[in-house]
Amino acid sequence: MMKSTVGACNTHNKSVRAWVDEMTTLCQPDKVFWCDGSEAEREAMTAEAVSKGILIKLNQQKLPGCYYHRSNPNDVARVEESTYICTLTQEEAGPTNNWSPPREMYQKLHGLCRGAMRGRTMYVVTYLMGPPGSSLAKVGIELTDSLYVVLSMRIMTRMGRAAYEHLGDSDDFNRGLHCMLDVHPARRYICHFPQDNAVISVGSNYGGNVLLGKKCLALRIGSYLGRKEGRMAEHMLILGVESPEGEKTYVAAAFPSACGKTNLAMLVPPAHFKGWKIWTLGDDIAWMKPGADGRLYAINPEAGYFGVVPGTNSKSNPNAVKTIVRDTIFTNVGLTPDLDVWWEGKDGEVPAECLDWKGNKWTPASEEAAAHPNSRFSAPMNNNPALAPEVNDATGVPISAIIFGARRATTMPLVYQTFNWIHGVYVGATMGSETTAAAAGTVGQIRRDPMAMLPFCGYNMGDYFRHWILIRRSLKNPPRIFHVNWFRKDASGNFFWPGFGENMRVLKWIVDRCRGRADAEETPLGWVPGARAFDLTGLEGFSLETLQKLQTIGTEEWRKEVLSQDELFLKLYSHLPKELIFQRELLVSRL
Ligand code: OXD
Ligand code: MN
Repeated sequence: MMKSTVGACNTHNKSVRAWVDEMTTLCQPDKVFWCDGSEAEREAMTAEAVSKGILIKLNQQKLPGCYYHRSNPNDVARVEESTYICTLTQEEAGPTNNWSPPREMYQKLHGLCRGAMRGRTMYVVTYLMGPPGSSLAKVGIELTDSLYVVLSMRIMTRMGRAAYEHLGDSDDFNRGLHCMLDVHPARRYICHFPQDNAVISVGSNYGGNVLLGKKCLALRIGSYLGRKEGRMAEHMLILGVESPEGEKTYVAAAFPSACGKTNLAMLVPPAHFKGWKIWTLGDDIAWMKPGADGRLYAINPEAGYFGVVPGTNSKSNPNAVKTIVRDTIFTNVGLTPDLDVWWEGKDGEVPAECLDWKGNKWTPASEEAAAHPNSRFSAPMNNNPALAPEVNDATGVPISAIIFGARRATTMPLVYQTFNWIHGVYVGATMGSETTAAAAGTVGQIRRDPMAMLPFCGYNMGDYFRHWILIRRSLKNPPRIFHVNWFRKDASGNFFWPGFGENMRVLKWIVDRCRGRADAEETPLGWVPGARAFDLTGLEGFSLETLQKLQTIGTEEWRKEVLSQDELFLKLYSHLPKELIFQRELLVSRL
C-alpha cells in the first residue's frame, strides 16, 4: 500500500484525486510524488537521476545544465506494431490502426500494471499543452515511474502550476498512465482510449512512446477530439516568415518523422535574403481551428523540441546548435572522455575515441555509428534564438500556407502549389515517403503516409480525410496548400537541391504566392514557379537547367505513382470521401 504522498502542488480537484487514488491502488507505488514543475524540484530530481545512473552529468563548462541518457538498446524508437487505438468498434479506428476492444485492452494492461510500481515512486505530472488561457490548450496528467520521463516532460510541456490553474475543478483532462515494467518488447503496449480521453503506455521508456503529451495526447487523442470539436491536430511545424519590411506570414508544414521539420522550423535564410527572418512557432505539432475571421489559427501545444540529433550542425540547423548547448537531455548519442556529446555530422573534429550509444568503446575505425540514427535531444523552446514571440499567444497565429513534404528520391518535383483546398487534401492524403529511423522497422522504403499522420491518426483515416474536407466550410480564407520534396536525386544518386537554409527560396515563393505576387505556370500536378519567380541568385553550381530537371514531371513515373496511391485508397474504400476519387480521376486526365 502507498506509504507517503509528497510534492507541493497537491490539488483539490476531486476527479484528479479520485483517479490518482485508483491508479495508486492498481500500481501500488511506495511513494506518490505530486510534481509542481519548479526549478528546485528539477534540481532535486536531476540529482537523484544522476545518483541512480539514469542520467550522466555532462561537462558543465561546455554544456551547462545538460545531461546524458542511454536507453535500453531494445527501446530506441516508436513501435507502431505495439500502438493501439481502442475505440468501441474496429471501424472507428479504421484499417490503418491496430485495434483492440477497450475492455479487453484495459484488462490486459491493468494486469500488467497491477503492483508494477512496488518499491518505486509514482510521479504525478500535470501538464498543459498549449499557451495558458488558450481555448485550444488541453491538460493532461501523466502518472509515471520514470524520472527520465518526468524531467523530459518538464522540458516538453508546461508542467505543474500553469496546468493546475488551467484545469481548475474540471474533469476534462487526459488520463495517462506509464509503467516502465521491465522495458521488454514482449510487454510493450502504447494504447489509446479516445472515448475516455485516456492513454496507457507500458514496457518502454522511449520519448515517442512515453512522453504522453506528444504523440499520444497531442496527435492520436488530439485528432480524435479535434474531429468532435471542429479543430485539427496535425503533425506539422509552424513558422513565421518575416520580410525586410516587417510583414509576417505564417506557414504550417507536415513531413513524416525525421524528414527535417525541426530544421525547416528553425531555418536561417542564406546571405542573399538580407533582412528576411524565419521565426519558429513549433517543430512537430500544430493544433488549429478556424477563427471568427474565417482564417485557420494554429498553436504549438509543446514547450520544447524532441529532435533527431545526427546530422545537426551549423549548416543544417545553426539555431538548433545554439539551442542544445544548455538545459538539454541527450539520449543515445556518443559520449566523449571529457563528458561532451558527439554524433555523426556534428561540427568540429571527430573524437579519437568515445563511448557509443550502447556504452561501448568507439573510434573512427568502428563500423557502427557512435550515435543511434534516432538519438534525440530534448531542449526547451525558450533556448531557440529564433523563437517567435507569438508562441505564447492564446489565439495562435493565422496560417496562410500549408505545406506537405515527403522524402522522395524520384518522381516528386521540388515544389508545386495545388489548385485549391480539396486538391490540396488529395495531395496530402496521397503523400508517400521513404521510411526513417524514427520508427522501428526497415528504413528507406516508400510508404503512403497521409498528411504525415499514418502513425498518429486516432481514428479512421477515411473519416480524417472527410474532416479535412469539412473544415473548409468554416474557412472564408483558407490556407493555400503546397507540396515540396527536398530529397530528389540525380542519375548519379546526388541530391539535386542543396536544402537546409536554401529552402528559404522555396518558402519565399510560397509566401509570395499566398500574397498574390509570384508568377506560376500550370502543370498537371498544380502550379509551379515561373522561370522569373524563383530566385537563384547566389546559389553556386545550380543553374536554371538543374531547376528544370528537378521540377520534371515524368509521365511514366506518375503513372506508377497513381497506381501505388490506389493501394491506400482501396484499403480505406468504405470511408473514403468520393471527392478524393474525383481528384484522382482529374489528375489522371491531366497527366
Ligand atoms: C517524433 C516522431 O519524434 O515523429 O517527432 O517520431
Ligand atoms: Mn514527429
